[in-house]
Amino acid sequence: MYLGNVVANQAQTKQSDSIISAAYFKVKEAFYWINQTFGWTLPENGVAVDVGASPGGWSAFLCEKGARVLAVDPGELKIPPHPRLQHVCKLLEQSREDIAQVAPVDVLVCDMNVHPKMACALMISIADLLKTGGVLVLTLKTIEHGLANHLERLPEVILKPTGLFDRIETRWLFANGKERTCLATRSSLVLSSEQLSKMSKDLAEADPYVMLGLKKNQEEAEIKESGAGQPSAVVTKRKLNPTVHSWLKQHARQSQQLVREQSEGTEGTEATEQKSKATNSDETEKLLSKRQQRKMQRRQEVLNRILSPSPSP
Ligand SMILES: C[S@@+](CC[C@H](N)C(=O)[O-])C[C@H]1O[C@@H](n2cnc3c(N)ncnc32)[C@H](O)[C@@H]1O
Repeated sequence: MYLGNVVANQAQTKQSDSIISAAYFKVKEAFYWINQTFGWTLPENGVAVDVGASPGGWSAFLCEKGARVLAVDPGELKIPPHPRLQHVCKLLEQSREDIAQVAPVDVLVCDMNVHPKMACALMISIADLLKTGGVLVLTLKTIEHGLANHLERLPEVILKPTGLFDRIETRWLFANGKERTCLATRSSLVLSSEQLSKMSKDLAEADPYVMLGLKKNQEEAEIKESGAGQPSAVVTKRKLNPTVHSWLKQHARQSQQLVREQSEGTEGTEATEQKSKATNSDETEKLLSKRQQRKMQRRQEVLNRILSPSPSP
């Protein structure tokens, strides 16, 4: 049983038939790569902690995978209640006790919209609650523009030296925007919660530019010159896994074509008619949510194609 200020969602309902946030695709793709690169799969009845969980796309995915999920976020969850899902309606910084009650954790996932250095530091503060061999999935957001071209190296300079993670890999997922996703496995190093808390605080105060061996002003100038870092960012994406990316693009193009054909056929006229009839805000909202759902379905299609076994490219 979870204690504290845990809000338990106990009603048993059918599985969600619509995807609540585009973020869902990130975690789905991340799980694919965890399996491919680390050979890791979620154990039966495994414990997952989803930090920065609202509105709930990642938690919904974890429930679908059969995990017992503790979702930590002061924001509301917009997914249907699930018997294996519990929501701690607090900041991560106030949730250590709640997480400790479900520990040891098999998989810790974090999509918080905080500075990537802070995200790493906060993961370190609860690393003792993750099982040895357990997995971390961490989104590194582009909150600070000057670091945009160096997100891949951040886990190397922040997480690796702690010795808490023995396999660390940072990817630019198909479902990522400018952000990156770090995948790591927990080492067997044992540190006390006090030691971790101190380490986390020191890191939170450290200058990420110094850790990366960069000079802040110089880096900003470079980014301006190269047009917000876009060209080099694209090159990095290609460099990561050229075969997979050209393969993904091909599938994405096919899927977009399919969707275009469908919407030009039956749905195109229907949507235009509906739009002209949407005279009040309720109707407009309904229309938007249908569109949103179609967008989600398209993304789902593309991702299913990407993740399904296919003949070599
Ligand atoms: C991009 S959203 C997460 C989307 C989510 N992964 C999904 O699938 O729906 C980022 C969330 O991080 C949460 N957040 C930011 N700082 C946090 C903190 N310190 N502790 C817990 N949650 C935090 C925000 O409340 C926000 O809901």
